[in-house]
Amino acid sequence: MNDLVKEDKIMIEDMKEADLSEVLKIEDQSFSDPWTCNMFKAELSNPFSNIWLSRNGNGAIMGYICFWIIEDEAHILNLAVDPLYRGKGVGSMLLSASLDYWGRKGIKVVYLEVRESNITARKLYDKFDFKIMMRRPKYYRKPVEDAFIMGLEMK
Ligand SMILES: CC(C)(COP(=O)(O)OP(=O)(O)OC[C@H]1O[C@@H](n2cnc3c(N)ncnc32)[C@H](O)[C@@H]1OP(=O)(O)O)[C@@H](O)C(=O)NCCC(=O)NCCS
Repeated sequence: MNDLVKEDKIMIEDMKEADLSEVLKIEDQSFSDPWTCNMFKAELSNPFSNIWLSRNGNGAIMGYICFWIIEDEAHILNLAVDPLYRGKGVGSMLLSASLDYWGRKGIKVVYLEVRESNITARKLYDKFDFKIMMRRPKYYRKPVEDAFIMGLEMK
């Protein structure tokens, strides 16, 4: 684990409506077709959905992960880290905390989608042993691009 994650007092907590503006700022800097405020609000009121934030010792939101749990499957819908904190282990920490939780919940398989060109995210998912299961042509817009559906069987 990276130094920042080891030394800083990192908290993982559920996102609340009060976090929306800070999260939207990260979202807009992270994606060419970002989620809107209403999309986050819909997830916050969806009983299948979880949005977890990681905060540093100063209370700043460093990143977040959104996932659904449906029976024994988890689906990652969103994962982003503030550009200020990228490459410091925050994305790995969010994924690893989620994997621990899914393990405790008896989740058998985890799915996600990723843009073919998103090499950084694909490296992160490779590191956690996600495998490409299929290509979904022209899945994304702005710009139009294929998605890889990746999956991880939990042991
Ligand atoms: C993808 C993202 C969440 C990764 O978060 P992060 O906190 O920077 O990731 P980490 O520091 O934990 O690094 C995890 C792994 O990603 C890869 N990685 C990180 N930064 C990288 C870079 N600049 N170039 C290539 N690979 C990189 C490495 O394999 C790294 O593992 P390692 O440090 O053991 O080598 C972040 O880059 C991001 O928010 N990107 C924009 C939004 C996005 O693409 N989300 C994913 C949608 S599917």
